[in-house]
Amino acid sequence: MNIIVTGGAGFIGSNFVFHMLKAHPDYRIICLDKLTYAGNLSTLEPVMSNPNFRFVKADICDKEAVDKLFEEEKPDIVVNFAAESHVDRSIENPQIFLETNIIGTSVLMDASRKHGVKRYHQVSTDEVYGDLPLDRPDLFFTEQTPIHTSSPYSSSKAGADLLVLAYHRTYGLPVTLSRCSNNYGPYHFPEKLIPLMIIRALHDESLPVYGDGLNVRDWLYVEDHCKAIDLIIHNGKVGEVYNVGGHNEMANIDIVKLILKELGKSEDLITYVTDRAGHDRRYAIDPTKIHNDLGWLPETKFADGIDKTIKWYLENESWWQPIISGEYQNYYEKMYGDK
Ligand code: NAD
Ligand code: DAU
Repeated sequence: MNIIVTGGAGFIGSNFVFHMLKAHPDYRIICLDKLTYAGNLSTLEPVMSNPNFRFVKADICDKEAVDKLFEEEKPDIVVNFAAESHVDRSIENPQIFLETNIIGTSVLMDASRKHGVKRYHQVSTDEVYGDLPLDRPDLFFTEQTPIHTSSPYSSSKAGADLLVLAYHRTYGLPVTLSRCSNNYGPYHFPEKLIPLMIIRALHDESLPVYGDGLNVRDWLYVEDHCKAIDLIIHNGKVGEVYNVGGHNEMANIDIVKLILKELGKSEDLITYVTDRAGHDRRYAIDPTKIHNDLGWLPETKFADGIDKTIKWYLENESWWQPIISGEYQNYYEKMYGDK
């Protein structure tokens, strides 16, 4: 089995590459990644010399490069993780989100049609459903919840989702989609809440909590997401959407306090800053369908996952230190300077 994994030098994509090489030692995994600011080749270092792994630097919007790779590798399956993924960046500059997340998806699907790919899997997000109110804990996102987006990022992901379903209906492309809640774990880029707070707390720097800190996210350990996608590409029904989440809702402020406690740091580091524009209040996935149809259940409890994650950042400074020196400093100043 030949599988092209796009965005495999990023957070979830790299964890998926590691999972697949381990779980399916007879598969060939080809990673296609543009290596944007969020892609890190050093992450893939442990598998670079694996004969079942190949890395190709290319943009999913580049039709010629994509076609050439599909011609060479004749993939059975394509799993598309490649995306611009950070909501705050999408508020600053929406255009690249439309290009990569929508146009890039269409380029990959055109190549998948041309080369007879047996399964195209789109990695999507619970953010396409918009948000839920804090005072209705009985409400959850199901696969039937209407698309109702808030940010340029989620709108670009929703646009891609609709295109994926249209390619299935119009051209019969064998697609599946997964919409997952917030992931956490190793190799998470330190612009996102959990790694940002761990690294800043380690340096005794202020921890910028948006708004009142009460926004809720439904956190899932990244390995559990990778296992869900593995199940969907093998056993999922063509044309179907699967929600992935672990009923693990937490307010941002509670996550930040937990990280401070684990690191033995003072809550005085917490600084409430101007809220994110259009900030979604609560995400909460109903994972009944993937559980009933494919037998998926999350395996890592949050208490264990967050411990493992903090430990990973403590032990892998050599991974994140080069990221936070360089361009990242300008990013932080630009995004947080006047908050
Ligand atoms: P990430 O930002 O860490 O990684 C994105 C990767 O895509 C990087 O390696 C980057 O170099 C690559 N990339 C970006 N533009 C590209 C292009 N034009 N061509 C080729 N490669 C390109 O993202 P992530 O957090 O790992 O998310 C991966 C996917 O999962 C995204 O599609 C995201 O929408 C989705 N998702 C993420 C989460 C989450 O909590 N992080 C949850 C649900 C869904
Ligand atoms: O739900 C899935 C989504 O989760 C994915 O589709 C996105 O790609 C991924 O980035 C993530 O989006 P969020 O916006 O939920 O993640 P982020 O880590 O940016 O923020 C999590 C929460 O923490 C959110 O309510 C905003 C808040 N926050 C974030 C940052 C970076 C802060 O309070 N302070 C911060 O500095």
